[in-house]
Amino acid sequence: MTKVLLATDGSAHSVRAAQSLRKMAERDQTIEVTVFHVAPLPDLTTPAAAGAPVPNPLLPDTYAQAQAERALSVTLAALGLPPERARGSYVIGVPGEAILAEARQGGYDLIVMGRRGLSPLKELLLGSVSQVVLHRAPCPVLIVP
Ligand SMILES: Nc1ncnc2c1ncn2[C@@H]1O[C@H](COP(=O)(O)OP(=O)(O)OP(=O)(O)O)[C@@H](O)[C@H]1O
Ligand SMILES: [Mg+2]
Repeated sequence: MTKVLLATDGSAHSVRAAQSLRKMAERDQTIEVTVFHVAPLPDLTTPAAAGAPVPNPLLPDTYAQAQAERALSVTLAALGLPPERARGSYVIGVPGEAILAEARQGGYDLIVMGRRGLSPLKELLLGSVSQVVLHRAPCPVLIVP
């Protein structure tokens, strides 16, 4: 079995990463994929706009959950593998750190991710999540352009 961790934020970049992995998985039947999303913690460091509710990090965040389900479902659809070869999973946390923790604990052979993600700022080659994962990953990383 070849264990692959596909990190997704639901962006077009992540969907392209899933399409590349789909081609690899069609040729290599040993590939099994965990599609992994990290729902970021609410940012409590910036003052909330006047009158806006302050998110309580201890309450289940239904918005984060809906975003996570959307990110996982578009990515699983692009991957197009049968359920016995692909599963979706998400956690709440700091994206880079949570991807690295999952990669270490799950004993993956490969991490696949997009070059950039949802951020509209495109002047840098790599996004901050792909950069931190590439720097500290315990296994090879495939960054899909
Ligand atoms: N929350 C997340 N959960 C899982 N994977 C993620 C998450 N955010 C990003 N990724 C992965 O990292 C890749 C690169 O996204 P990244 O967030 O680094 O770039 P960006 O959004 O363009 O820039 P930045 O977030 O640094 O402003 C994505 O294509 C995806 O594979
Ligand atoms: Mg991002």
